Amino acid sequence: MAFNIAVAGKGGTGKSTLAALTIRYITEELGKPVSAVDADPNASLGSLLGLEVKSTVADLREDIVEKKVDFSGMSKERYIEYAIEESIIETSKFDLLTMGRPEGPKCYCYVNNLLRKYMDKVGTTYPFVVTDNEAGMEHLSRRTTNNVDLLMIVSEPTVVGALTIQRILKLAESIPVTIRQKFCILNRIPENGIHENLQQKLDSLGIEVSALFPFDQEVYNTAACGASIFEISRENELYVKLGTFLQKHLPASMLEKSTVGNQ
Ligand SMILES: Nc1ncnc2c1ncn2[C@@H]1O[C@H](COP(=O)(O)OP(=O)(O)O)[C@@H](O)[C@H]1O
Ligand SMILES: [Mg+2]
Repeated sequence: MAFNIAVAGKGGTGKSTLAALTIRYITEELGKPVSAVDADPNASLGSLLGLEVKSTVADLREDIVEKKVDFSGMSKERYIEYAIEESIIETSKFDLLTMGRPEGPKCYCYVNNLLRKYMDKVGTTYPFVVTDNEAGMEHLSRRTTNNVDLLMIVSEPTVVGALTIQRILKLAESIPVTIRQKFCILNRIPENGIHENLQQKLDSLGIEVSALFPFDQEVYNTAACGASIFEISRENELYVKLGTFLQKHLPASMLEKSTVGNQ
């Protein structure tokens, strides 16, 4: 089974950036292919990875629910499978599936079930799945995702951020998905480090922080220019720190460097 990494947190905290850098680390430094899933309705993983996303699963769900689609002989199930496949962008190192934004409170159970089947299939064919989740983690709670081996909860280094971590930790306990390891990460730490009051708050909430990632000018510049995270230098401090974090928490068997997809 694939090793499933999920990134969660409030919008604007750096989820997609860290998901994209994780995908780069696994593909380039470990040489292993990744199935990337952008489950945030505010989809941005594709552009961070330098891809142009033309169709999302939500688009096709709309078409099917609104019956705008002429199935022309195809079974509905086969059509949805086909449409999910159409929404996948394949590169030599990773594939990306973008969920998109569903419009309106319609029942998508049928499509969600097929999506789950797809995710189960992906889980047996890729060594890694990396999911960029939306803030509320609804995809996880609808069990569109498989079990999670490593959950990164990304937060800004503020009291509001600490309270959000607490809420997500509680939510993670209540959803019907097994999460094997959870790590709280504070991102965009200013040069002077985190404020002592924040440390006190984290202590009083019983939140253990596993990684402090710095504010990084090169990452900011890359985003400001709309460039892909593959343009960031390999020596970049945030990239190196994320690599150290992954080296520490991924199972040894997943860290063996391979050349798959790198030739
Ligand atoms: N460590 C960092 N240093 C500098 N800028 C960062 C860092 N992490 C994220 N950013 C920037 O913060 C903004 C929000 O990040 P993003 O990954 O889109 O957040 P989210 O996916 O949680 O909404 C982006 O402009 C991104 O480039
Ligand atoms: Mg995002």
